[in-house]
Formats: sequence, C-alpha cells, structure tokens
Amino acid sequence: MDRPTYEVQTLGCQMNVHDSERIAGLLQGEGYRAATGDETADVVVINTCAVRENADNKLYGHLGMLAPRKRENPDLRIVVTGCLAQKDRGSVSERAPWVDVVLGTHNIDSLPALLRRSAQQSQAVSEFAETLQAFPSDLPVARGSDFSAWVAISVGCNNTCTFCIVPSLRGRERDREPEDILAEVRALSDSGVKEITLLGQNVNAYGVEFGDRQAFSKLLRSVGGVSGIERVRFTSPHPRDFTTDVIAAMAQTPTVMPSLHMPLQSGSDQVLRRMRRSYRAQRFLQIVDEVRTAMPEAAITTDIIVGFPGETEDDFEQTLEVVRSARFSGAFTFKYSVRPGTPAAEYSDQVAPEVVSDRYERLLAVVEDIAWEQNRALLGSRVEVLVGRSSGRKDSPNARVSGRARDNRLVHLPADAGLEPGDLVTATVTHAAPHHLIADDEIAVIRRFEAGASSCEPQGSTVTLGLPSVPVTS
Ligand code: 5AD
Ligand code: SF4
Repeated sequence: MDRPTYEVQTLGCQMNVHDSERIAGLLQGEGYRAATGDETADVVVINTCAVRENADNKLYGHLGMLAPRKRENPDLRIVVTGCLAQKDRGSVSERAPWVDVVLGTHNIDSLPALLRRSAQQSQAVSEFAETLQAFPSDLPVARGSDFSAWVAISVGCNNTCTFCIVPSLRGRERDREPEDILAEVRALSDSGVKEITLLGQNVNAYGVEFGDRQAFSKLLRSVGGVSGIERVRFTSPHPRDFTTDVIAAMAQTPTVMPSLHMPLQSGSDQVLRRMRRSYRAQRFLQIVDEVRTAMPEAAITTDIIVGFPGETEDDFEQTLEVVRSARFSGAFTFKYSVRPGTPAAEYSDQVAPEVVSDRYERLLAVVEDIAWEQNRALLGSRVEVLVGRSSGRKDSPNARVSGRARDNRLVHLPADAGLEPGDLVTATVTHAAPHHLIADDEIAVIRRFEAGASSCEPQGSTVTLGLPSVPVTS
C-alpha cells in the first residue's frame, strides 16, 4: 500500500522552520512521506507563531481554508502545534472543531502517539507540557536543504521584555551541551552541508545554564572550525549579552560570516527601559562600532518595534536617529502588537493606531533609503554567493536563482548560468535595490555542490507561510 502523506505549513521564525523539519522527520519515521505538488496530504500540520497578533489571524485563516477539505475527507488529520497552540490551548479546537490534534511547543515528540490516538477518537486530542520534554534536536529530522542547515543551540529565554510573549510559551532558556551541538555539526558536514545557522531565542546568552559566560564565543570558534563548514551564522543575539569575546570570535574565525542581526527594538532609552531591555541606545551603537572596527565589511540588520506604549514623537525621532547612525543594511520593522498576558499589554498609554501607522511608514522610508544606499555602494564589486533555490519559472525572462552573499545580502543571479543550489560562486554586482542585489556579470564558480557520502537524512517537504526569514526573537 502507498505510504500516507504529510504536509507541514510553517508560520513565524526560523526556530519554527527548524522545528518543522523535526516534525517532518518524526512523521517520516512513522512511515509517512512528504506530499508532492498537487497531492492532498493525509496529515496537515500547522506550526504556528504567536509573537504578533496577525500571526493569530493567519492561523485561523489557514484553518478556515482546511475546513472544506476536512468535510470532503474525514480521514484528513489536521494538527496545530507551535507557539499559538501553546498559548491558545483548548480554544484552538473550540474555534476550529475540525482540528484533530493540538500540541504544545515543549513536546513535539508526542506527535506520532497523538496522531495514532486521534485516529481512534472523534474529538480533538491535545497535549501540553509546562517545560521542555526533549530537545527537538534529539528527534529525527527531514531538512529542507542539503547544503544549509539550522542547528538549535538553546531553546527558551530568561529575559522579560515587556512586549514579548515568547518566554511564557517557550519557557526558560535550556542550553544544549557543546559536544552535542558539535556532533550534530560534524554529522551535517559529513552529509555535505556547507552552511550552519545557530539558532536560539537569545543565542548569545548560551551557556547561562552551565554558568559559562563565554560559552557562545567558544562555540562559534569550535563550530567555525569544523572541517567542511564554509559559513557559520547565528540568530538572534541580544545586545545585552553581546560581549567583546563574541566580536573577537566572529572576526577571528574565517568561516563566521560578517553579518549580524541584532534587535534594537527602540532607539529611545526611555522606551527601552519600559520594554525592560537593559542596554541603552549608546551601548547599542558602541557594539555596532566595535563590530564594524573588527569587521569593516559586516552588514548589520535589526528588528524595530514602533508604537510601543508611551512612545512619544521624541522617542520615535530617537529611534530614527539610531537607525541613521547605525546604518543598518536592513531591518524588520513591526508595529507594536498587544500580547495579552505580557506586562506591556496592561500599560494604559497605548499609542493610537494612526500614529503608529504614520511612524511605521516614516521608519520604513528611512530604513529603505539607507539599505538602498548601502547596496548601491556595492555596484561593480565582486560578491561571493552561496546559491540557493531558483525563484520563478525557469523559462520566464525574469527567472533567477537567488543566494546569499557572505554578509547575508540577498543576491539574484541569472537562471541560465547553469548554477545549482549549494554551488559557491563569485559574481559582479550590476544592479542594486533596497532589498537585493543583482549580480549577473562575470560569474565564476568557486566550487560545485556535492552531497556528502553519509547523506543519510531524508529530505522533507515543509512549506513556509508568510515571511520565511523572520528572525528568532531576541
Ligand atoms: N509587537 C510587535 N513586535 C514584536 N516583536 C516581538 N514581540 C512583539 C510585539 N508584541 C518583534 C521584536 C522581535 C521580533 C522577532 O518580533 O522586534 O525581535
Ligand atoms: Fe526574550 Fe527576545 Fe522576547 Fe526579549 S524579545 S523576552 S530577549 S525572546
């Protein structure tokens, strides 16, 4: 008999994208296979996000679209997991009674057992745990890429930023042992992986559990030294824990890429204080300076929230000022979203939506201007690109393959240059836009991609919904 099929839809950050790879791995271990193109899957898993309210709306929108499919095929199993499942618990199946399994963030390993139980039961089955039961990293995995891999180093966050719901859903920080992380990286390298992105809600607090304040910089150096690994990245660090040893490790480890995504959130000290973010704007800018001194070619990106309760025009101007001084090469900008249960949700001085929208637009314009200016400065220069997936139809005149430069800039290359995912090339930049570069001249292949001998991990099919590259909160 043909194997049953699955589809995993992912909302939210990279941690979720990676958890989805584990979910796919678990399902493959149970005998399922990824549904292809036009097949309708027997099991649909939605891995949710709760960081902002629109992520809530997206879940119920997707569930709404699945309702007719469930009516047509009562054997279809619908699973909701991730942060929103953890947050909404019982109310998911109240709002969408056609959901079969609801599973929290701490126990995705229970998925196979819950699916089996749900097959025998007509109402939704659910399971939640208050603390992490097993590191998802210990579960089977079906990775979405065979040349670039996520590696979780920690889960959870011990900070208490007043806008953020993550600590209440992901729990206190749990750190994996360095040996376990390195073993995973070595195995990935043996299987042909070239790029590693270390993941954590607060990556550079890594080590807090075993009391080593320099654990993250040590880990960067050791992961960067694994033979065969060409590029190491990490996301997201917190400015508070961005110590000089981390900068030194980045600058001195050739495989650690000159790129840094470090959330600012606000450029006003008063707002930072009310956000309970312990650094101040000057300290943030000092880190930016230190990083640029150590790595002049580094591209620095950030996250910014506008319209945090009590934010005045003057506070907002201070954010613009920091953006201008820091010269970010890009920023994820968010309108503050009330998260029930967080301290800021109780603040009485919420900012009027039209004021938030106006500031949001103004911030975006400044961010884009600076990003574009920086990208234009790269015109005519050579960039090294790790080739990713192709975008658009191969035969269309605008067909491109996209990849990432060393500093993580998105670079489009022509589709007809014979490039395959995982190839490493250099090319000359011929066009600059605010969010990408086009490099279609003088393409030179540095090396072709070859999967390694022990490429043993199955490939999974997971779909990322919404913004695929939203950083992990920090
Ligand atoms: N409202 C708006 N943005 C938020 N973020 C986290 N919580 C909220 C919220 N309540 C943003 C932060 C974080 C990013 C992943 O999401 O900027 O760094
Ligand atoms: Fe933790 Fe980041 Fe949320 Fe702050 S914003 S509480 S550092 S996950």
